[in-house]
Amino acid sequence: TASRKVTIYEVGPRDGLQNEPGFVPTADKVALIDLLSATGLTRIEAASFVSPSWVPQMADAAAVMAGIRRAPGVRYAALTPNLRGFEGAREAGADEVAIFASASEGFSRHNINCTIAESLERFAPVAAAAREAGLWLRGYVSCMVECPYDGPIAPAEVARVTEALLAMGCYEVALGDTIGRATPESMERVLSHLLRTIDADRLAGHFHDTTGNALANVEVALAHGLRTFDSAIGGLGGCPYAPGARGNVSTLPLVRMLAAVGWETGLDMAKLEQAEDFMARHIAAAPKLVSPAS
Ligand code: HMG
Ligand code: MG
Repeated sequence: TASRKVTIYEVGPRDGLQNEPGFVPTADKVALIDLLSATGLTRIEAASFVSPSWVPQMADAAAVMAGIRRAPGVRYAALTPNLRGFEGAREAGADEVAIFASASEGFSRHNINCTIAESLERFAPVAAAAREAGLWLRGYVSCMVECPYDGPIAPAEVARVTEALLAMGCYEVALGDTIGRATPESMERVLSHLLRTIDADRLAGHFHDTTGNALANVEVALAHGLRTFDSAIGGLGGCPYAPGARGNVSTLPLVRMLAAVGWETGLDMAKLEQAEDFMARHIAAAPKLVSPAS
């Protein structure tokens, strides 16, 4: 059989901290990322270069990127909704940028204030600029199963947007169960559809854990050949423009579950515990640490 390796893509410093009710001090963000850099992770989403009037929590993205200690072998990524965000990320030394689209019109409008078609038009020059600058380009497709505004989303819509992002040059597209409504059955349905035309190694799972299904959904995705999963230390996360979205699947439980069923992540559990502990004591409001399912 093929190697039993899974890549964990840590999104806590971005997806987690963008959703904190208060502004997390830059020094705490930097300290958290530095702790995560010591765990064996190879990919960390550190910030987003978005409008500070839309997401004030990420307004210090440049300072965060300037403050972290770069660990060799770690790729530091940032979300970039437009060319302006791309320029900010490039100047800040991001190794990777991510463009983020939606499979639903309602979420596209609420999150980035444009239609899906307009967003793809806006992302094309970002993709070209990333290619020219030699930066890794990742894509996201939100609402892979359900949209907080439009309800259930057809797999064909997810496929269409995923293919558009891949055609733009994304090495990988992360499929977002943005509000954590996927069940193993709906996950199975959408992945089977996507894999008719898309290779599993171009897809990552980005699952929020609103209803406690995220780990089960990871298992479904593994069975379909996906080998990269986004998670957030301590299970932080959500999106200010996705009402009801809870935390991303939590990194430590994900790594433990994977290990239990024979998948290697190469991560140092003790170091992950240190990062989670820091996050819990310095960043998270205590009630947010309660499992979203409970
Ligand atoms: P807009 O209001 O349509 O655009 O926002 P605009 O061009 O009129 O810009 C508004 C203001 O922001 C202007 O400033 C711009 O200069 C400024 P003002 O004139 O009001 O002072 N601006 C910027 N500033 C800094 N960096 C930039 C930038 N761009 C414009 N890059 C826009 C459109 C896309 C900018 C806005 O809607 C936005 O920033 N949205 C981002 C929302 C966001 O970050 N959501 C969370 C991330 S997505 C997510 O969490 C889902 C995901 O995890 C996957 C999943 O779970 O499914 C990825
Ligand atoms: Mg997310």
